Amino acid sequence: MSATDVLKKVPLFSDLSDGDLAGFADVLREREYPKNSVILFEDDPGDALYIVSAGQVKVVLIGEDGREVILSVMGDGDFFGEMALIDDEPRSAHVIAMKDSRLLVLRRDDFQAQVVGHPRIALKLLKVLVQRLRQADAKIGGLVLLDVNGRVARLLLDLADESGGPRITRRLTHHTIAQMIGSSRETVSRAMRELVERGLIETTRREISIKNRDGLASLAGSRT
Ligand code: CMP
Repeated sequence: MSATDVLKKVPLFSDLSDGDLAGFADVLREREYPKNSVILFEDDPGDALYIVSAGQVKVVLIGEDGREVILSVMGDGDFFGEMALIDDEPRSAHVIAMKDSRLLVLRRDDFQAQVVGHPRIALKLLKVLVQRLRQADAKIGGLVLLDVNGRVARLLLDLADESGGPRITRRLTHHTIAQMIGSSRETVSRAMRELVERGLIETTRREISIKNRDGLASLAGSRT
């Protein structure tokens, strides 16, 4: 797929004309990152924005004891690395490839020129940042207000919405779920078992299916 085709799938650029997209594609560089490689290090200076062309990455904070909390998982069409370009502060988190990934890289100067030159991009950028703030608010709320079953329930509902149906096909280990909701693998395994026993979900090696959405939503303290 050409860089222009990839850009058309990126919500940030979806309003641009083919001519503008081609101009953009000219200044993008493609880079490959193998699974588990670190793409950005927290506290490094920021010199570029990254767009996921193929693959999957996670945004993580790593504590001094090596424990990881996953702030976000991103896939095709998502972008990251904008924060350090906007406020000139160091990178706010690590970004690590969860699968072999192909990324498009936009250098700082080109990013700034594009945002200034296309106010619609600036507005879309704001929209994505606001969505991320909402998700971060929901996560903080979940950490303070919900028990582990509720946090797992909320995560599963969000992932099901993301995949557009009751089945979550993204491969998720209990360890990864634990890192996404700030818990331990053992506690998550216990919570998953309980959700299965209560008939709220079904799990196979390949996927998790939501069986009772209302029940999960009530655990997650939300409306369906
Ligand atoms: P930057 O700080 O430049 O580098 C790390 C990137 O991770 C950051 O830009 C964002 O793109 C991304 N990031 C940081 N925190 C979050 C979050 N809470 N949700 C989604 N993405 C984030």
